[in-house]
Amino acid sequence: MKKKIVFSGIQPSGKLTIGNYIGVIKQWVKMQKKYTCIFCIVDLHTITVNKINFNLNDTILDTLSLYLACGVNPKKSIIFIQSNILEHTQLSWILNSYTYYGELKRMTQFKNKLIKYNFKNINSGIFIYPVLMASDILLYKTSYVPIGNDQKQHIELCRNIANRFNNIYGNIFNIPKPCILKYGGKILSLQEPNKKMSKSDGNYNNVIYLLEKKQNILKKIKLAKTDSDKNYNIKYDIINKPGISNILNIFSSLTGNKINEIEKKFNGKMYSDLKYETSKILSFFIERIQENYYNIRNKKSFLKDIIYDGTIKARKIAKRNLNKIKKKINLIK
Ligand code: AQP
Repeated sequence: MKKKIVFSGIQPSGKLTIGNYIGVIKQWVKMQKKYTCIFCIVDLHTITVNKINFNLNDTILDTLSLYLACGVNPKKSIIFIQSNILEHTQLSWILNSYTYYGELKRMTQFKNKLIKYNFKNINSGIFIYPVLMASDILLYKTSYVPIGNDQKQHIELCRNIANRFNNIYGNIFNIPKPCILKYGGKILSLQEPNKKMSKSDGNYNNVIYLLEKKQNILKKIKLAKTDSDKNYNIKYDIINKPGISNILNIFSSLTGNKINEIEKKFNGKMYSDLKYETSKILSFFIERIQENYYNIRNKKSFLKDIIYDGTIKARKIAKRNLNKIKKKINLIK
């Protein structure tokens, strides 16, 4: 039986964070044992925001090196750069014609960007990027899409577009399912635990990068906002104790310990005890990734060969599937 397809990607829009790892890369490493996995570096999404004074070439190779350092295996998985496969943008244009303006206007990420940019100079790439994301996924007849919680709405849109298209033309697209971790699906900002940890956050103390200097980890976790509970109750409660819940989440995701086991372990202890232990776990984890990363990051031809190989494989699938779609809508005979 043919293996099901997994598709996922990360924007090379900055330094990857532990949120990217815990939310998605960790899932990828596990899934590549069972499925045909296609992992993309989604550079076309990045240019909707980062343009000036931004070295995209370097961040692409940084991102690829981190994929590999975290355990993504190019012998098992297809890894490529989105802009190298022209079929993504062509399908995206086609699917724009099957997507409603009202649907895109409702996307929370778009609404947040409107606020962030004060409703000024929003380019249309930001508006239609969920359609490109849908194309990335649908082009490969994907069954599963590992994502963080913030991308759930975009997958819902992708499923709607695919269903709409299938209702007209027959079973062309697989309807993909999102894979979101119950706990690791949204790692929160350290100082503002009402929002997710983001690589483009202007406040460095909100974020732990995968390439974080070890000496910063303890400092940042120590500074992480908690709550004013006088009993220092270490308990998972995302509504009333988002800061502590976030630290429990990080602890649990990196050790595999269940949340209730960690709560038991720290029963009667101080927040600072949990923070100290979590920093130690994070340092150990990050050291291993950084060792792998610095071993490969300067091996440019090794990295380029991986991209070359992945591009050939991805292009073959993309071309075949796009041709079928174009035939269906009479763009080719
Ligand atoms: N904090 C997070 N917790 C869990 N998952 C996360 N992801 C991102 N942050 C967290 C997931 O990682 C995947 C790739 O994300 P992306 O970089 O392509 O886009 P994003 O969601 O916009 O991530 P950032 O870090 O916030 O990037 P910037 O700051 O550039 O916009 C996605 O599946 C995402 O859910």
